[in-house]
Formats: sequence, structure tokens, C-alpha cells
Amino acid sequence: MTFIDTHTHLYDEAFSEDAAQAIARGQAVGVTKFLQPDVDSREREQMFALVDQYPGVLYPMIGLYPGSVEKNWQEELQTMEKWLTRSDLVAVGEIGLDYHYGAEFAQEQKEAFRVQLEMAARMDLPVNIHLREATEDFIKILEECKHLGLRGNLHAYSGSYETFCRVQRLGDWYVGIGGVVTFKKATLAEVVKKIPLDRIVLETDSPYLTPTPYRGQRNESAYIPIIAAKVAELKQVSVEEVAEVTTHTAEKLFSLK
Ligand code: NI
Repeated sequence: MTFIDTHTHLYDEAFSEDAAQAIARGQAVGVTKFLQPDVDSREREQMFALVDQYPGVLYPMIGLYPGSVEKNWQEELQTMEKWLTRSDLVAVGEIGLDYHYGAEFAQEQKEAFRVQLEMAARMDLPVNIHLREATEDFIKILEECKHLGLRGNLHAYSGSYETFCRVQRLGDWYVGIGGVVTFKKATLAEVVKKIPLDRIVLETDSPYLTPTPYRGQRNESAYIPIIAAKVAELKQVSVEEVAEVTTHTAEKLFSLK
């Protein structure tokens, strides 16, 4: 069985002491590829420095995360340009909308998001979406950008099945399922039952969103099989099938070799 962790921040300071061991522990349980998004220019060099140590294992994504959008967003997007020549880029991300901590920069977030969707379309790359408490604005932008023929995934998906269906009509979209699906009171579990297995990719979002029974501790890719087991239970299929289908979907969506 092999797995792909489609969203992990191994360059995060939470892994400053043991990123190599965390990668090895992931590989030991079958995680063969790790997709690593950054969130803004401050983390970018660190992110690529780690990727360069693991060719064919770690894959980079670059993006201006909605939580990092401030007055200087245009300057931030300009700093992305020079990295777009990297042949190992698998997506633009993580990008999107997040009004959880307030909508002070909502307008800037929407503009930065649109520019990055255009960037992804121009580069023929998928997008890795971060969406929180901004569903209607997100769907409106997808409607306006339908002509771009976008594809990508909604990382750490937390929306409803209805939202999934609406998004489906606006491009080639997948959802990233992680530790939250294992939480006791997760409404996400009911949503996952309805979403077709071939629209799901696995992720940890480590060091965040640690699955049960490790909640409260640092998350890492070695817990991907726990998430896969939960998805298998909800979909009433074997873990092998979840591994096979989600790996195939991730390879196809992100053009991994
Ligand atoms: Ni993330």
C-alpha cells in the first residue's frame, strides 16, 4: 500500500529538529510522496531548501495564503514569479479565502486569489485551496473564473456535501481529507460518506490537525494510514482500495511521476 500526503508543512519550525525522521516515519508506513505548500515569501526559501534535499519525494507548491494577504499583496505575488520556472512545482497553493479572523482584508484576499487562479491557469497547474468561512465569495469567484478551466483540491475540506456539488459544476475539483475526519463529533464524516472516493485525496496539514488518538500532539505524515482507515470505514471499502484510489487521484491531479 502506498499513500500520498497532499498537504504538509515539513519546513515548519515544528519539524526543525527532525524533519528527516518525520519523512522516514512517513515512508515506513507507505507514504511515498509529500506535497508541500508554503504560505508567503517569508517561508519560501526554507520550503525549497527542504524540497531540494528530497527530489522525487517532496514536491513544492507556492502561494500567498489568505491569512498572509495584507496591503503588500501585489508585491508578494511578484516575489512568486521567479519561482514559477521550477519544473517540480505541482500546484499554486495554498491560496483562497479565510474570513475566520476577520474580513479586514477581504477585498485584497479576493483580488490576490483571482490573480493566483489566473497564474495557475497560465502555468497549467492545479491549485491547492484554503477556504474558511468564505464559501459564497469563493463560489462567486469560481463562477467568474469558470473560463479558466481550473482544477485543484480544497485542502482540509470542511464544507457541506451541497457545497462540494456546487463546486464540482465549476471545474475539476477534489477535496483533501485529513485528521478532522477522525474527530468524534465530526460532521465531516457524514459528508465524506457522500463524496465519491475518486474525488478524495489524503493529507495531514501537519504540523496541524492531528488525528485521533494523537490529538493535541504534533501531526505528521506517518498518521496518513489512520486517516485512510477512517475514510475506508466511512466508504465501506478496504484501506487498500482507499490507498490505491487516492494515490492514483493525487498522481493524476498533481501530475506526479
Ligand atoms: Ni496548510
